[in-house]
Order: sequence, then C-alpha cells, then structure tokens
Amino acid sequence: MSVAVGPDIRIDRVRGEPGDAGLAREVREGLTRELKELPPKLFYDARGSDLYDRITTLPDYYPARAEREILNRRAPEIVAECAAGELVELGSGTASKTRALLYAMAGAGTLRRYVPFDVDASVVEQCAAELVGLYPGLAVHGVVGDFQRDLGHIPEGRQRLFAFLGGTIGNLYPAERAAFLARVRRLMGPTDRLLIGTDLVKDRRVLEAAYNDPEGVTAEFNRNVLRVVNHGLGADFLPEAFEHVAFFDEASAWIEMRLRSKRAQTVRIEGAELEVTFEDGEELRTEISAKFTRESVESELAGAGLLLDDFHTDAGGLFGLASASLP
Ligand code: SAH
Ligand code: AVI
Repeated sequence: MSVAVGPDIRIDRVRGEPGDAGLAREVREGLTRELKELPPKLFYDARGSDLYDRITTLPDYYPARAEREILNRRAPEIVAECAAGELVELGSGTASKTRALLYAMAGAGTLRRYVPFDVDASVVEQCAAELVGLYPGLAVHGVVGDFQRDLGHIPEGRQRLFAFLGGTIGNLYPAERAAFLARVRRLMGPTDRLLIGTDLVKDRRVLEAAYNDPEGVTAEFNRNVLRVVNHGLGADFLPEAFEHVAFFDEASAWIEMRLRSKRAQTVRIEGAELEVTFEDGEELRTEISAKFTRESVESELAGAGLLLDDFHTDAGGLFGLASASLP
C-alpha cells in the first residue's frame, strides 16, 4: 500500500498490516527451536522505538554517543565524497543521528530526497513529517518494511548514500549479514556509497554494562518483544514473568540478550496456532549484537563485493563507521 501524505511525502507500507502471515510463521519457527528465539525486529513498535531512544541517552550505552561524535565530525567529508543527493537509511528509527548527514547535504546544496526504511511505521511517519518541515523542498519516500526481505521497494536513484547506522548490522547473524550485504551491493550503482555503523570488540565489562543499565530501560525494551507478539498475534505472554539477561559471548564476539522465565508457564499464541511451555529458568533468545574489528568489517564487505574506503572511529576507539563502495 502506498500513501501520499502530502506533496513531498510518500510512504509505502510493505509490512505491518494486521494479520501479517509472515509474522505468525516467524514466531512459530523461532518458538519451536530447542533454544527458543524471537527476531529482534519485533522489539520495535512505537513503544519499543521510544525505549530504544531512551537507551541511547543512558550513560553506559556508549555506541550512540560514539557514533554521533563520528557523524558530527565526518558528515561533510562523507557527503562530499559521493556528492550525495539522496540518503537511503535502513533501520532509520527516529533518524536522530542522521540529521548530521542531512545537514551536510543541505549545506553542500545537493540534498534532494530522504528514504527512511524501517519496520516500525510510527517512526517513518514521524520523521517524514518532521524532516519536510525542517528542509523545505525535501522529498521523503518512506518504506515500512523488513530490510531482510523488502529492499526491492527502495526507489531507484543515483548519487545515493545508503546508511545503516547504530550498529544494527550486528543484530543479524553472520549468514544473514552476508545475504543482506550482498543484496545491498546489488542495489548500489557506481555513484552510490554505503555507510555502516559497527560497534567494536572491547573489554567485556564495558560491553555488558551497556546492556544492563541499572534503570532497567534495556530490560523493558527486551520485554517489549513479548508485548509486540501479544498485540500482533493475540498472544498472552506476561512480560513481568520474564527477567532480562544480557552477556558477552566472547567466542562469537556478540552480546546476547535473553528473557528468562521466572517460573514454569504456558503461553498461548492464537495467531500462530501455538501453545508454548517454558520451564522455570528457561531462556528465550531475543537479540544478538555482534561486535567487530576493522578487519572483520573489511572482510565481510569484501565477501559481498564491496570495498572499504574509510573506517572512521570516535576518539575513544569504541565505535567504527565504515564507508564502502563498489570496487
Ligand atoms: N538507526 C537508528 C535506529 C537504530 S535501532 C539509530 O542508529 O539510532 C534499529 C532500527 O532498525 C529500529 O528503528 C528498528 O525498527 C529497525 N529494524 C530492526 N530490524 C528491522 C528489519 N528487519 N527491517 C527494518 N527495520 C528494522
Ligand atoms: C539497534 N541495535 C544496534 C541495538 C544494539 O545495541 O544492538 C539494540 C539494543 N539492544 C539493547 N540495547 C540496544
């Protein structure tokens, strides 16, 4: 479904309509595994996006601050390198750090169009309305979809800067990352660039503190996946019957988030025609958040036929922003 919201805004909704059969299938598939699992994209409804934004302001959650530092410093040169006229942002969220890129494009006089792509309709609608107000003449073509399946809905263009910020690439498993990068590579033309935010491997204590805040915002964000399944599939998860768990798995180089059942319980998921039992203490995996090195980023990009042109880091060396293009 495509909706023209005003002269400068168009929003295509590929996913998220009530009764989405894909959702039932994915939830059934994940919850019938030996280690039960739900995909992290299910954190994000309006409440989940808001909780994520609150996480980005927490003192221990350094990735957002570090990436903002890099973007604020490097946006003008990144934009100039490809004379970017169009910003296509995957997993755009509230586009908070994106503003540095748009500002630099506007300053260079090249800004034409912004394409926010996100699974949560609320953030796409909200930032579209906000940005056309900020940049008169800017065209916004939003896509509400799944970046692992729906990239074909991105409008054609040239001199495009594809941005995948926040470290969201780390929320994909290695094989999913390879498939995703290969698909993005196929969309890109010779005048396009890809910017990817990657959180870097570091001391376990720093990593684990970022995912275990004392205020419990990350715990609430983690439990939101259950509310989203309740709402989307008429399930009866009791979020308060699960506790937040996050730890660094050094062998896999990723943070893993789980929800641990506080007691033996049975959950009905009507829309997936499924009844799931949890033992006392049983864990459900909700997210991995992979951590990278410059070398691992370069090698994954090369595996997808992309060349790493630059790898910017913040002063503390906590986070990396990779800039890549076709060889
Ligand atoms: N880029 C923003 C938001 C990061 S949070 C930032 O750096 O602050 C991750 C974003 O990706 C969320 O807005 C979430 O809704 C979106 N997202 C997660 N999985 C997705 C998927 N499979 N398809 C599309 N969007 C997804
Ligand atoms: C969006 N993504 C990169 C965040 C991360 O750090 O992996 C999501 C998040 N999970 C817990 N806190 C934040």
